[in-house]
Amino acid sequence: MEAPGRIWFGYVAAVGLAVIGLFTLDPLAFGLAVAVLVATVLGEWYRGRQAALSAAAADTDLADLVSRWARGWAYARGFPRPAAVPGGVRVEVGEPGRRVEWVATDDADTLAKLVDTARDTPEAWLSVVTESPPGVRPWFVEAGLVANDGEEALMSIQLADHAFRRLPEGYRAEVDRDGGLITVTVRVGEDVAARGRIAVIGADAVADRIQTEPEHRRRGLGGAVMSLLVSAAREAGAMHGLLVASEMGEPLYTGLGWRARARLVSARTATPRTSAESRHG
Ligand SMILES: CC(C)(COP(=O)(O)OP(=O)(O)OC[C@H]1O[C@@H](n2cnc3c(N)ncnc32)[C@H](O)[C@@H]1OP(=O)(O)O)[C@@H](O)C(=O)NCCC(=O)NCCS
Repeated sequence: MEAPGRIWFGYVAAVGLAVIGLFTLDPLAFGLAVAVLVATVLGEWYRGRQAALSAAAADTDLADLVSRWARGWAYARGFPRPAAVPGGVRVEVGEPGRRVEWVATDDADTLAKLVDTARDTPEAWLSVVTESPPGVRPWFVEAGLVANDGEEALMSIQLADHAFRRLPEGYRAEVDRDGGLITVTVRVGEDVAARGRIAVIGADAVADRIQTEPEHRRRGLGGAVMSLLVSAAREAGAMHGLLVASEMGEPLYTGLGWRARARLVSARTATPRTSAESRHG
């Protein structure tokens, strides 16, 4: 039997024994009811503690976070599953100017090889997850890569800790599920005011393309979309959230409980820029 079932059974058994005690006035039945209740409460506490410990352990290693995020991101965008490479992953993005993208940590040995590989690959991007963007940018310059402006943030959260924001009045939301991909669309009349999606892969949920139309911003729609996505992802079994936030998105996510784990800086080979203004979020 699954643990949640066992715990539910414990409460039912305690109530059952207490009822028997009431009818028979047998102190043994009361004693047993109290013992079962205490054991059930302790069992539930222990199970919650174990879940929290394993969730924390799954959220520590940056290289692991990068590959888990990339897997969900690729799934959300319909790219092939990323291939593991030394230092990170290789993603077949397949967009003009961004055929292939490496996403890696800033480990010096592997980064040295990746900047060379990216430089020698037409229409390639290299994204580096780092706690020190100023330490990474010289690598781009030296290799002749063109750095993209600004930086993004790799963020994570335990989904149970995510804040809930209600949908403001006058809007309605649709939640669609397609395999592991959950999409939320917020409309006013027939017009789309905001949308977003989240890919659920095992215990991970990776949010992507969270967007509010400019005329509907700062009314709480972004927070409501995230809340609906996270609720649906938890229903689907996810426990950990991951995303890469744009500079505009980061304050929204921080306000909902997400934590920045590292910055993400990216560069591309010196081919004309044709698309991909939306980077990773
Ligand atoms: C980032 C983005 C999705 C936020 O959407 P949004 O609908 O404006 O989000 P919310 O309204 O829920 O919250 C945004 C801000 O408005 C504030 N806000 C929420 N309700 C409000 C209200 N009724 N009145 C005024 N401000 C409000 C929030 O506190 C938050 O403020 P902060 O940024 O100072 O913390 C939107 O700006 C956007 O689409 N940007 C372009 C695409 C993008 O970068 N997406 C993120 C990809 S990772």
